[in-house]
Amino acid sequence: MKSDKPKTRKNDTLYELACETIPGGVTSAQRSIRPHLAIRRALGATLTDADGNEYIDYHGAFGPALLGHNHPLVRKRVVESLDHYLLAGVGATELEIDVARKLCRHIPSAQKALLCNTGSEATFHALRVARAFTGRKKIVKFQGCYHGTHDYVLRNVTSRADRVGQTDPGSAGMLPEAIENTLVCEFNNLDDVEKTFAAHRGQIAAIIVEPIAHNMGSVMPAPGFLEGLRAMTRANGAVLIFDEVITGFRHHLGGYQVIAGVTPDLTTLGKAMGNGFPIAAVCGKKEIMERYSTFAGGDTYFAGTFNGNAVGCAAALATMEVLENEPVHQHLFRLGDRMRAGLREIHSRLGVRATVAGFGSIFLTYFLDGKIGNYSDLLQNDAERFVEYRRRLIDRGIFKMPINLKRSHLSYAHTDTHVDKTLEACEDVLKKMY
Ligand SMILES: Cc1ncc(COP(=O)(O)O)c(C=O)c1O
Repeated sequence: MKSDKPKTRKNDTLYELACETIPGGVTSAQRSIRPHLAIRRALGATLTDADGNEYIDYHGAFGPALLGHNHPLVRKRVVESLDHYLLAGVGATELEIDVARKLCRHIPSAQKALLCNTGSEATFHALRVARAFTGRKKIVKFQGCYHGTHDYVLRNVTSRADRVGQTDPGSAGMLPEAIENTLVCEFNNLDDVEKTFAAHRGQIAAIIVEPIAHNMGSVMPAPGFLEGLRAMTRANGAVLIFDEVITGFRHHLGGYQVIAGVTPDLTTLGKAMGNGFPIAAVCGKKEIMERYSTFAGGDTYFAGTFNGNAVGCAAALATMEVLENEPVHQHLFRLGDRMRAGLREIHSRLGVRATVAGFGSIFLTYFLDGKIGNYSDLLQNDAERFVEYRRRLIDRGIFKMPINLKRSHLSYAHTDTHVDKTLEACEDVLKKMY
């Protein structure tokens, strides 16, 4: 018998169920989207939702799925590691030693490495040790960059136009002293950084920077910008921290610092490091790293119950092994170039006012034209159109996060066929929107 009742989407039913016990129905900010999605399966380059709809996924869980979701070797190594132990909680395991040795081999700034579980922990620990090492309080971050959830860095991320250059905390409940001691400069503006050093002489402990500002989509460092930060931190006795939580592994096994040819004092890693399994790291110069309390006499506390667990370590080792042995970056850069060129060609043919940005496996379309060098430039982006475009792509089976300025990620599991299908869908959607 035919029912007149409208068909309920399982995605919506699960969202409502989630809301009964989880505030807002999601366990991390920025996961709540319209339409609501409850993902049942994430495999390779695709996501399948609770209603059985399949999507080519360019969200990649905000970046970790570098080799594709649930990569077979990574999964195999994780399962094998559990035959021996999950968490020893004493001394160092062979897996931890192997991960640290590999990080120190590949990452130019890494003379020593410590493991933790999230990018936020890594940036927190890097900033704390920078303060201990320099005996100074203040740090510098850049408008539009994101470095995690803690009070030291959660300010001036996605600021409204009238908050740019103002005090713009990212959360209620932040300690005013932490906010005040974090100074904010404009990305790609060395004069601004120089003036900030002059205004706070002898007080700045560190600069923390995403070497490519991917939390604004994809803003490249202007030629000389990273070199300038290196020179200025050196001249002023401050620590330079590259937050490579996104760029690390994704663009190069040794981080974007290898490509840029600029070596920071400390590097933070996370996301793609374990291809989806939780593991992160802070690594850097020996004399700074030996200030941590893991070292006899170290005065800067570093600890974590789950640090160095077998799951994260085995995942990181397997991920690095694939990156060492297979042409992952070659594939990612080739597909990224194809995607960007294809989108540009469509925009120019259809007369769409848009700018395609990205590097390697990261790409996105901003709905603006003009230069893109800092967060203020991106205020010109038509945010409504940006989100509308992505919502319509979801209906076409292409998943890019429908949130303003979010970057899209290719993975090793994406193919030319995925790119072709995506370009076709983008063209259809843009034709309907213009
Ligand atoms: C550059 C950067 N640093 C740090 C973090 C924080 O990482 P996590 O979410 O693992 O705490 C993020 C997360 O998006 C990030 O993009």
